[in-house]
Amino acid sequence: TEIVAIVPAAGIGSRMKADIPKQYLMLGEQPILAHTLDCLLSHPQITQVIVALNPQDEFFADLPQARHPKLVIVIGGAERADSVLAGLQAAPADSWALVHDAARPCLTHQDIDALIASRTEFTQGAILAMPVRDTMKRSDANGRIVDTVERELLWHALTPQYFASAELKLNLQAALDAGAKITDEASAMEWAGVNPGLVVGRADNIKVTHPDDLALAKLFLSHRA
Ligand code: CTP
Ligand code: MG
Repeated sequence: TEIVAIVPAAGIGSRMKADIPKQYLMLGEQPILAHTLDCLLSHPQITQVIVALNPQDEFFADLPQARHPKLVIVIGGAERADSVLAGLQAAPADSWALVHDAARPCLTHQDIDALIASRTEFTQGAILAMPVRDTMKRSDANGRIVDTVERELLWHALTPQYFASAELKLNLQAALDAGAKITDEASAMEWAGVNPGLVVGRADNIKVTHPDDLALAKLFLSHRA
């Protein structure tokens, strides 16, 4: 099977409160998105890296990876799911897609390999995830504990999320049309009745979301070099 990567990178990073979209903030030597792309572009099994950009993007063209032969650019949409859908339109018909957030620059080939290999067990697709470590509480609207939620069955959903491109495109579109709340690819597959697999990923595959996350990502990358 041909494997492509789809990278939603069309967000504005409002929670980051920077003056440019967070995927273009520097992380050591190069911007966040450049780290993300390096990992995907250098993976031997990934044939194309499809990046969804904001129509107003004025930074991407300056990245050293911008003219890489594996790279395909599409215009993203208003929500993350719209950007992923735009990417899926460009994916080869029989391909499988690794959908990965631009804002997760600490991805490793080890994580990608584990997810790709999981297809023998999880034939309808799988996602990287981390078991929840803390005791989990459910609250009422006033910030008071209602009860404790069983932790053994709770996971943090990460990316990449790995599905057949055509099936994911169909389910994402149908779920969006139905007004379902879709926050990742798995939730669109779940909406369609699929139970994707969970593959334990690395704890350092964080999404840079708030200003503090930048220092953390920097630390993770520096420890690796
Ligand atoms: N994304 C996208 N298209 C959108 C919204 C988000 O491609 N319309 C991408 C972001 O660029 C990011 C990924 O989806 O790489 C995960 O989204 P998130 O972390 O929420 O990024 P932003 O939406 O940019 O940040 P915020 O929610 O704080 O504004
Ligand atoms: Mg967002």
